[in-house]
Amino acid sequence: MSRAEHDETHTVPHLLSIPARAQIRRQPVETSRLLLVPIEISDGDELWDAVEGSRWHLERWLPWVPFNGTREASVRYAEACVADWDGGRAVRFAIRDRQSRDLLGVVGLDSCVHLHRSCELGYWLRRDATGKGLMTEAANASVEFAFSRMAMHRIRCAAATDNFPSLRVIQRLGFRFEGIARQAELVQSRWLDHAVFAKLSQDE
Ligand SMILES: CC(C)(COP(=O)(O)OP(=O)(O)OC[C@H]1O[C@@H](n2cnc3c(N)ncnc32)[C@H](O)[C@@H]1OP(=O)(O)O)[C@@H](O)C(=O)NCCC(=O)NCCS
Repeated sequence: MSRAEHDETHTVPHLLSIPARAQIRRQPVETSRLLLVPIEISDGDELWDAVEGSRWHLERWLPWVPFNGTREASVRYAEACVADWDGGRAVRFAIRDRQSRDLLGVVGLDSCVHLHRSCELGYWLRRDATGKGLMTEAANASVEFAFSRMAMHRIRCAAATDNFPSLRVIQRLGFRFEGIARQAELVQSRWLDHAVFAKLSQDE
């Protein structure tokens, strides 16, 4: 088969598109109460303060929290976020209050797989930012960003079967239940079963 024939018969698959981080920094994702801004290295200090101030609230569900034990670890995480965004591996936003610009938490589209146009949604909020609907607002905007700006096809989201606040967020986002991943994570010496959900671009 000639090169021309080959090109005609094999269409190039449609891959993910990752918007430039600098562009989204200039024009963050806006919701009524929040700004979602790509995490920068300079966010390291605020990330540390947010985690340190809510450690007991976060460490029950998030296995990385004990490893985030110094301010430097938060800076390294911020550096990894920058490298992951630029490398097309993950898109993680600092969730900021629209008025005060305070950092309230993180929402991320992790484990981006370009070939299948899929990713995993993950999130956390500072304890004092919970109970106001802010994560539902931030996660909704991130899902919309993934489908409309990144050509995402499938977004997976999993939460421990007894993490009821997170399960309620996922339910409000309209994700569909797919099954239980048994003992998916070891957190604080406890194996967590995960309820697995997903949303496809064509879902309502
Ligand atoms: C998971 C987590 C982000 C959920 O936070 P949350 O504050 O419960 O979720 P939201 O920000 O969407 O807020 C929803 C709550 O605010 C209430 N609320 C108050 N004012 C509201 C408003 N103006 N608009 C919408 N909801 C409002 C809602 O009724 C809802 O309460 P309910 O779930 O008891 O019904 C948070 O518990 C967290 O950070 N947990 C630790 C980390 C974690 O578990 N991450 C997920 C791992 S899978």
